[in-house]
Amino acid sequence: MPKPQVPTDRLAELFPEASAIPADYAAALPCDSKEYLMGGELRAWGGPMQEIHSPILVRHGQEMHPQIIGSCPVLNGETGMLALDAACRAFDNGRGAWPTMSVGGRIKAVEDFARRMVAKREEIVRLMSWEICKSLADCGKEFDRTVEYIQDTVSALKELDRASSGFVMEADILGQIRRSPLGVVLCMGPFNYPLNETFATLIPALIMGNTVLMKTPKIGKLLIFPLLECFCAAFPAGVINIISGGRDMLTPIMASGKVTVLAFIGTSRAADAMRSLHPKPHRLRCVLGLEAKNAAIVLEDADMAQAVSECLRGSLAFNGQRCTAIKMIHVARARADEFLERFCAGVAKLKVGMPWEPGVDITPLPEPGKAAYLQGLVEDALALGATVVNPGGGAVRETLFAPAVLYAVDERMRVYHEEQFGPVVPVASFTDIEEPLRYVSESSYGQQVSLFGTDPDQMAALIDPLVNQVGRVNLNSQCQRGPDNFPFTGRKDSAEGTLSVHDALRAFSIRSLVAARDVEANKAMLTAILNGRKSTFLSTDYIF
Ligand code: G3H
Repeated sequence: MPKPQVPTDRLAELFPEASAIPADYAAALPCDSKEYLMGGELRAWGGPMQEIHSPILVRHGQEMHPQIIGSCPVLNGETGMLALDAACRAFDNGRGAWPTMSVGGRIKAVEDFARRMVAKREEIVRLMSWEICKSLADCGKEFDRTVEYIQDTVSALKELDRASSGFVMEADILGQIRRSPLGVVLCMGPFNYPLNETFATLIPALIMGNTVLMKTPKIGKLLIFPLLECFCAAFPAGVINIISGGRDMLTPIMASGKVTVLAFIGTSRAADAMRSLHPKPHRLRCVLGLEAKNAAIVLEDADMAQAVSECLRGSLAFNGQRCTAIKMIHVARARADEFLERFCAGVAKLKVGMPWEPGVDITPLPEPGKAAYLQGLVEDALALGATVVNPGGGAVRETLFAPAVLYAVDERMRVYHEEQFGPVVPVASFTDIEEPLRYVSESSYGQQVSLFGTDPDQMAALIDPLVNQVGRVNLNSQCQRGPDNFPFTGRKDSAEGTLSVHDALRAFSIRSLVAARDVEANKAMLTAILNGRKSTFLSTDYIF
């Protein structure tokens, strides 16, 4: 096995001097915004501000300093509560203009917003890349995927509305069944997909007639500020309110009991803390995307080239900072050496560098203290007998962490259990298939698994129990959320609720119906309401 080396100087050289930053990339800076969106107005904040640093350090001679990229408000609890009140007023117990608006009217507003958002693509993509250090190319893909998600959501709602535009006749009762909004939704997205995952709950929540309080992600927040004016122009006052701040701001909001849906992508610890603040937890619907520790199981008859290539992308795309990343690899012992050799060769070819560089794979890590945390995981595994099997693996310089492939990892090691959410790839080998199966069933998480093999009998025998333990079994491919029309969910500590374009519309609404006894007087009244287009709910209009 190759010995680990620590070429930290080589890593240091990857950080740029100011003059080496491409001009158009640098042009996005600084993004200083004092604004927040509340009650249909962009308000100027006069209180404390947060200075935002990029994970990119800039070299000045022998010294390196994190690039300051902008600043934004740290709102207090009082202001957060005013924003919540604005959302409550706009919902007005279901009597507001937005929750009672026709589906067609809400679709128009969302489409108007999407048009305005598209005009800001370059600015948003660059700010995202500066703050979370996702490659510029992948930030562009995240933006485009989000716009497509909005368009797909509109199409799915039209389909849902068409399917609900008729009447049901059952026994002597006539009914029209539709979906109605739930109330005020608090939306919070994660740093790794700050646009896409925030909008994956925000857009369905809005389009179904809820009003929203959106908190910017903890990291990856600057990209939201150019969108404030788009939201403000496209939606009626109070329908969407956007705030930035920390726990002080959130605690009274949750404790007020006025939030009806918590849409949160992050850790189960933070989700539990917020949920427990609600005075009537049974009134709170939670739509949660939480931790995962997806396993890959490479069987003895696997197509090794395919398994290695999928595991490489699956474990190290965006530095392994995807909830769907493969975070533990189990390989049949007879093929373990071959797997490791090919896998490490693949890791050696990954390009480490800055997010604007074409073809870059490994970039600086945005979470404070993350490199030290990953070093701790590696040291713990080494102390218990594992080895870093790729040359240079685990080298650290500031926010850059060279991917470390650890072998042979076992259950005594922290990295076997903890979600690393970074470029550390633990590998174990097995002689008995019960070993990886036990790993999956004993894990605290249950999001996805990747299965690599070619024998239909063996694959089928594994698929049947695994679908009962995770939310998706991937055959000869990495774990992933997409396509966005597929259900995205998890069991145990990995998720609550299901998100796909189709499911999200249902997650943020409830079925409501209008029912009447099938007698002439009622039929005459219903006909008058329908023909006169007097109601937005009770309607047989067909949206094309
Ligand atoms: O971080 C979790 C994301 O939902 C993963 O999405 O599989 O498309 O990268 P992805």
